[in-house]
Amino acid sequence: MMENYFTQIRSANKEQWRPQYHFTAPGGWMNDPNGLIYYKGWYHLFYQYNPEGCDWGSMHWGHAVSKDMFHWKDLPIALYPDQVYDKHKDGGCFSGSAVEKDGILYCFYTSTTYKNGKMIQTQSLALSEDGVHFTKYENNPVISVPPDEIERDFRDPKVLKVGNAWYMVVGASAGGAEEENGEGRVLLYKSSDLFRWDFVGNLLESKELLGTMPECPDLFYLDGKWVLTCSPMKQSTNIKALYCVGEIDFEKCEFHVERTGNMDWGFDYYAPQSFLDKHGNRIIFAWENEWAWMPWFHGWGPTDKENWRGTLSIPRKAKLDEELNLILSPVDEFYSLQKESVVYENCLIEKSKKTIQLNNPYCYSLHISCAVSTEEPGGIEIGIFAKEEKCAEVCVDCSNMMLTFNGENADCYDSGKLSTEISAVNGKIDIVLLVDHSIIEIYINGGRQCISCNVYPEKAQTGLWVRSLQKEMKLEKLEIACAV
Ligand code: FRU
Repeated sequence: MMENYFTQIRSANKEQWRPQYHFTAPGGWMNDPNGLIYYKGWYHLFYQYNPEGCDWGSMHWGHAVSKDMFHWKDLPIALYPDQVYDKHKDGGCFSGSAVEKDGILYCFYTSTTYKNGKMIQTQSLALSEDGVHFTKYENNPVISVPPDEIERDFRDPKVLKVGNAWYMVVGASAGGAEEENGEGRVLLYKSSDLFRWDFVGNLLESKELLGTMPECPDLFYLDGKWVLTCSPMKQSTNIKALYCVGEIDFEKCEFHVERTGNMDWGFDYYAPQSFLDKHGNRIIFAWENEWAWMPWFHGWGPTDKENWRGTLSIPRKAKLDEELNLILSPVDEFYSLQKESVVYENCLIEKSKKTIQLNNPYCYSLHISCAVSTEEPGGIEIGIFAKEEKCAEVCVDCSNMMLTFNGENADCYDSGKLSTEISAVNGKIDIVLLVDHSIIEIYINGGRQCISCNVYPEKAQTGLWVRSLQKEMKLEKLEIACAV
């Protein structure tokens, strides 16, 4: 029935900051991606949504479908906060996930309401036969009480199938997410029919890794290992999207973690959720903003002036390398959007800025690769959204092997400055920049590291330049393309 829907990339012509190939809601507030699934020939994306205004509150599940994960068609809101167990202006239908069984779509979400001034979080279920209309299960909540030690923070169910059994991971806090002594837990539940759920145990409990509360946990099998991802609150290293790779014994509820890492080093990447695309690839979307408890919080930016707030990352394909690092790179579908690509090979850049011509100065991709020599390391600086003194800078310092993103001078909202160590792969550094109105995504060495940051440039900031840090430097390749 959805074949007749006309799909399009959201037009950015009228709105300065609304991205074109990154998903945004039609209007109002959006945070986490929810319920990602390929179901009956369509990619379904649900998201935390407040259609009433540009601030968080009264959570609904917004809904859109796509054939390629870039051209989206908005569908009617899937879940409204309209039941005693999920209705409240400071609560509603929180984050969750979707699975298919016998052609039926099962959406699990955290139902939140208040009793005697206290927030109650439970896990609930909504079903659909067509992927458009949803009915909440009459015996909701399917998990109405958290295990001992967990009081309030008990949310974000992610359901997966292991063999013939269904499992659910849920984020929780012993002691409280907002409390300094709170401890994060990932809880494991099991079911044979998706309606009755038994608590198996704590799959992971660690203040060090999970902070006071792991929000939006996800668990999936990738390249022979189990990968757990989540967004820890108040974690000591301030990581926003953590991954843990290892082996799991589901019977014993034991997770032997062999590797941990950061999914994205930028300011704006939170609550990632994965699913399988139609080819069986593991794909991850995340909310490309941030919450106020993060120490680097600079505010939500100005997009409420355009009546929308909240962006999702582009879909990233996940894989593990030999050392069990999680590698995240743009999905192949992204490259088929690209047009008018211009490639310069073996070009020399100097200390003076070289301006690069752009067909669309707000929406493009830039790909640079260069060999790094230990004798004369040098470096590259890239100015994005440049106009006179204003610009966001990406500096690749090959002497110290550091990449710095500096958004302090990019806009009037202080988009922040951060640095991360990088390393050459086969003697080369490869950088892909995806620029989309108010988003800059950086992929280093094929997605070994990613950085996502919001910037809010003025319309006149249309320039892009490159220069070398020391003396001249040879770029093996510089490719610029329109991204849509
Ligand atoms: C993560 C989160 C989730 C919660 C949702 C509420 O960003 O805090 O834990 O379900 O947002 O909108």
